[in-house]
Amino acid sequence: MTVHFIGAGPGAPDLLTLRGRDLIAASPVCLYAGSLVPAAILDHCPPGATIVNTAPLTLDEIIATISEAHVAGHDIARLHSGDVSVWSAMGEQLRRLKALDIPFSITPGVPSFAAAAAALGTELTLPELGQSLVLTRTPGRASAMPPRESLTAFGATGATLAIHLSIHNLASVVADLSPLYGPDCPVAIVWRASWPDQRVVRATLATVEQAAVGGPERTALILVGPVLGEADFAESSLYAPGYDRRFRPSSADSQFIGRE
Ligand SMILES: C[S@@+](CC[C@H](N)C(=O)[O-])C[C@H]1O[C@@H](n2cnc3c(N)ncnc32)[C@H](O)[C@@H]1O
Repeated sequence: MTVHFIGAGPGAPDLLTLRGRDLIAASPVCLYAGSLVPAAILDHCPPGATIVNTAPLTLDEIIATISEAHVAGHDIARLHSGDVSVWSAMGEQLRRLKALDIPFSITPGVPSFAAAAAALGTELTLPELGQSLVLTRTPGRASAMPPRESLTAFGATGATLAIHLSIHNLASVVADLSPLYGPDCPVAIVWRASWPDQRVVRATLATVEQAAVGGPERTALILVGPVLGEADFAESSLYAPGYDRRFRPSSADSQFIGRE
C-alpha cells in the first residue's frame, strides 16, 4: 500500500501528467483538496473508488483516513492543486506518514505560475532583463512569513516575482514594490489560469489596483517584473550563429571539434 501524492495541475483537467492519471486510475481511494482540484480529474478514479474531499477535514482526520486505507491495504491517490512542492501542505502529511511507517510516492504537477505564464503568452526569464523567478506570497491569516522573506527583500533584487495567495493584499503588494520597481513596472494578474473562466489583467504598478477592481477574490497569481512588458530584449547567445557550442561548433577551429 502506498500514498501517491500527485500534483493535479492548475485547473484544466488535461494538464495532469500521464503518471498522475495512471496512479489515480490504479488507486481505490482518492483524497483530493476540493478547494482547487478540478472535479473532472476525479473521473480517472476507478469505478467504486472511495473519494474524499479533504477541504473540510483537519490534518488528524486526513491522517486517520489514510491510516484506515493503509490497514485495508488500499493504495491512495492524494491530489493537490498545481505542483505538490509548493503550498500543498504535503510536508506535514509526509512527516506523519514517515512516523507511521506508511509508504508514499510523489508525482509532480504543472504549477500555477507556469499556467499563468502560458495564459500571458510569455517567458518569465528573458536575457538581460530577468533571469530569476521568485515564487512567494504575502502573509495570510493562517501563515505568517519568515521575517527575512519580505516582498521588499525579494523586490530589491529586481527579479520577476510570482506572488501567490495574495490577491487580497494587492494594495500592500503595490505599496511595497513601487519604490523598488518604479510605477511603470509591468504587472499581470491571472485568475484561475487554465480554467474555463480564466481572467487576465495586464497593467503597471501604478494602474493595477484600478485594473483589478471587480476581479474575483481568490485563486489569482500576481506577476511583477520588467520581463512582463518588454518586446525589446536581447536574444540568447545560445542560438546566435557565431556562438561556439558543443552541439553546433561555429568554425573549423572550434574548441568542441573532436571532443566527446
Ligand atoms: C494553496 S496555493 C497552491 C499552489 C499550487 N500548489 C501550485 O503549484 O501553484 C493556492 C494559490 O496558488 C495560486 N493558484 C493556484 N491555482 C491557480 C490558477 N489556476 N490560477 C492562478 N493562480 C493559481 C493562487 O495564488 C492561489 O491562491
